[in-house]
Amino acid sequence: MMKNANNNKKDNVFKLWGGRFEQEPAEIVNRFTNSLFVDARLALYDVRGSSAQAEGLLQAGVIDPSEYNRIRKGLHRIEIEFRTKRFVFDEHDEDIHTAIEKRLYEIIGDTAYKLHTGRSRNDQVVTAFRLYVLDEIQGIITRLLAVQSALGAQAARHKGVPLPGFTHLQHAQPVLLSHYLLAYAEMFNRDIERFFHAYYAASVMPLGSGALAGTPYAIHREALAELLGFKEISANSIDAVSDRDFAIDMVYAISVLMMHFSRLSEEVILWSTDEFGFVSLPDAFTTGSSIMPQKKNPDVAELTRGKTGRVYGSLANLLTMMKGLPLAYDRDMQEDKPAVFDAIDTARTVLDVWVPLIQGLSFNTGRVQEALSHGHLLATDIADYLVRRGMPFRKAHELTGRIVLYAIKKGIDVAGLGYAEFKAFSPLFKPDITSLLNIKTSINSKAVYGGTAEKQVKNAIDRLEKKIRHYESFIKKV
Ligand code: ARG
Repeated sequence: MMKNANNNKKDNVFKLWGGRFEQEPAEIVNRFTNSLFVDARLALYDVRGSSAQAEGLLQAGVIDPSEYNRIRKGLHRIEIEFRTKRFVFDEHDEDIHTAIEKRLYEIIGDTAYKLHTGRSRNDQVVTAFRLYVLDEIQGIITRLLAVQSALGAQAARHKGVPLPGFTHLQHAQPVLLSHYLLAYAEMFNRDIERFFHAYYAASVMPLGSGALAGTPYAIHREALAELLGFKEISANSIDAVSDRDFAIDMVYAISVLMMHFSRLSEEVILWSTDEFGFVSLPDAFTTGSSIMPQKKNPDVAELTRGKTGRVYGSLANLLTMMKGLPLAYDRDMQEDKPAVFDAIDTARTVLDVWVPLIQGLSFNTGRVQEALSHGHLLATDIADYLVRRGMPFRKAHELTGRIVLYAIKKGIDVAGLGYAEFKAFSPLFKPDITSLLNIKTSINSKAVYGGTAEKQVKNAIDRLEKKIRHYESFIKKV
């Protein structure tokens, strides 16, 4: 049956396309392809992108100033409707971009039909998506800086507190608790750098790429980029509409961030066990058991560890979704949004919950102190003592190993042996061995840049504070 302008269409359905079809899409197809309630969160970014588009059309002489004003006013009203939660969603609209154009038509009439001149949803969608990602990256960096401040404050509060350091989860060498906490701050500094990289990757404006070939209208792309706050304009229209690297960069940065939080979680879980007892979590950040009245469980840390897998899932989702796509836009790419949104939501809640959690961690220095007295943490210092007196390290290692074995058989920590016992192993030992063998001396001997000596760690705390301030001012300028 031939279609005419009035038949065969639900009156209340505004469609972006339809002229070449003799049949309406099946309802099940509409539902299958619909993304309205997912991409609704891009609404305000679409409005911004559309306003810039109107500006471009005005400058190119496609619309006149009065048409331009009508479009801008209509878009402004739509923006207010979104902000005040009064925008009425119609589930028949294919996506948020359709919904906004339809609403513009309801408000300003036929002029709305001109807005899409020289634009395709392919460049429109990715413009809004990039603007959204840029905002979220700023939010994530800001939250990460709060995490860094919390870590820095804990490190400063525990200046000079020693801790057994581990490798293979076995007692290794003593380190400062502050040094330990600052190890996480280093990871998060790298995360911040990764988010800045993701920011620059997202800050490229695709508008003007049209469906894939560019646009025949003389829009001033640089001016629109500046208007929207993009650092650059895309250099190839085919790439521009089909590039989702920026989304992958963002979710990769979140994945690494989550990996770091997952490690911190594992540490907190382990350290809060009765067996370790190094740390107590604030009551408000733990949960109880429905059956065991004594329980205080580290669920926040466990869920963080668990959610890491979920974020990796988003990364795998995006990488796999993109890997077989021919140029240019393919509808597969609509699946980018749920993956990115979910990763971002997870990162936001994780960051928000960890700031007060870190602030509320209380370290049981008594238990830590107790742990320092066993595990032969100072064995390496004995070998270093012999080296300073001329013994090659490999020989010193071997000899110290025998001294440790002797202490194990005697049932004491190697640091508890007396001068006479040391001397029986080598004449290189002098009476100062017993006074030199202590945790503080061991820690302060690691005075290289990046080492755990008190002076170095104090400098590291200062560096972290400076870095936070640097990033804080930088984030305002990007
Ligand atoms: N909602 C879609 C997305 O987010 C855009 C649809 C573009 N559709 C199209 N046939 N080009 O990817």
